[in-house]
Amino acid sequence: MKTRAAVLDGPGRLVVRDQTLRAPRRSELLIAVEAAGVMFAEVQMALGRYPGQPRFPFVPGYDLVGTVVDGPRAGQRVAAMTRHGAWAELVVRPARQVVEVPAGLAPADAVALVTNGVTAYQLLHRSARVRPGETVLVLGASGGVGTLLTQLAVAAGATVIGTASPAKHHAVRGFGATPVDYHGPGLPDRVRALAPDGVDVVLDPIGGPGFDDSWRLLAPGGRLVWYGSQSTLHATGVRFAPAIVALRKIAAWNARSRLRRDGRRASLYYVRNGTRAFRTDLATVLDEAAAGRLSSAVSARYALDQAREALTALSDGRITGKAVLEISGRGRALGAGAEDLQGV
Ligand SMILES: NC(=O)c1ccc[n+]([C@@H]2O[C@H](COP(=O)([O-])OP(=O)(O)OC[C@H]3O[C@@H](n4cnc5c(N)ncnc54)[C@H](OP(=O)(O)O)[C@@H]3O)[C@@H](O)[C@H]2O)c1
Repeated sequence: MKTRAAVLDGPGRLVVRDQTLRAPRRSELLIAVEAAGVMFAEVQMALGRYPGQPRFPFVPGYDLVGTVVDGPRAGQRVAAMTRHGAWAELVVRPARQVVEVPAGLAPADAVALVTNGVTAYQLLHRSARVRPGETVLVLGASGGVGTLLTQLAVAAGATVIGTASPAKHHAVRGFGATPVDYHGPGLPDRVRALAPDGVDVVLDPIGGPGFDDSWRLLAPGGRLVWYGSQSTLHATGVRFAPAIVALRKIAAWNARSRLRRDGRRASLYYVRNGTRAFRTDLATVLDEAAAGRLSSAVSARYALDQAREALTALSDGRITGKAVLEISGRGRALGAGAEDLQGV
């Protein structure tokens, strides 16, 4: 079976071409992809900088929404987090890893919630355990995860301060946060001007030189959750080095905080699919969006053939919210069973 896919042939080399796809096993589904997310992880993968990425060549694509092509679930619209492989017209996924998409939610809107929605929900409710009345600092509030974090934190009754480039402050404000520019020196002072006693929660996907400030901005009892290394994209050396530095800091801060008994805590978050919590939380955010209480913040749509353009726009900082690939779903258009697809 063949499928059209965007393939990373090597660092910076993304081409769209036909790929061979193996037939699904009994426990798997053949899915005609309708939308796939574009996110920072793929920018890192394109540079060969994402910890644990496959060897080149491979098909990137962290998440997808599509329609099951055959079997008892044929015609069902499903969502899945794949980590890689979603930038294709057809994919094969384990049936236990997919979640049904509620009716009325467009594929592009749904896909924006798969990895990013679960990440945002779990950061707030499983890691930081945000409470009504707390102040939350969302770093990168204009991005794919950040726009969802902001909305979910506001819905949880928190006051949100969100960092972003000035051109995106209007959007950040629209999602309910007070925007702060992260460029140049003095970010901690700008945050303290809004929260003189410190903040209760910092959600940090940036790491790097400003990571210490994230810790220092915490009020007693505050929680810092680190979940990305956006600022170290162009670092050289071992891919895992920024993570090792951050984890050492987290261990040292927690040890010091225990001695001082100030109640502050730092932790790492990493989204895991295939778990009951992932499926439950994905269903929750999809339902929230279907009910109109959560916006997917999709602001840019590209065809599969424009995957390179989408990646460039994201890495150049030209996207506010979320970029998605809208994919033709060729298998769905065929209305075909697996056998019919042999000659595709
Ligand atoms: N741990 C996990 O399981 C997990 C899961 C999903 C995502 N993530 C992480 O979440 C982060 C966001 O991913 P995404 O796909 O949402 O990215 P995105 O859409 O590209 O958004 C990036 C955001 O970060 C801001 N930003 C970029 N460079 C920055 C810098 N040097 N300093 C401060 N802010 C900066 C951007 O602000 P402007 O555009 O306004 O300048 C934007 O708000 C990434 O680090 C990613 O690895 C982690």
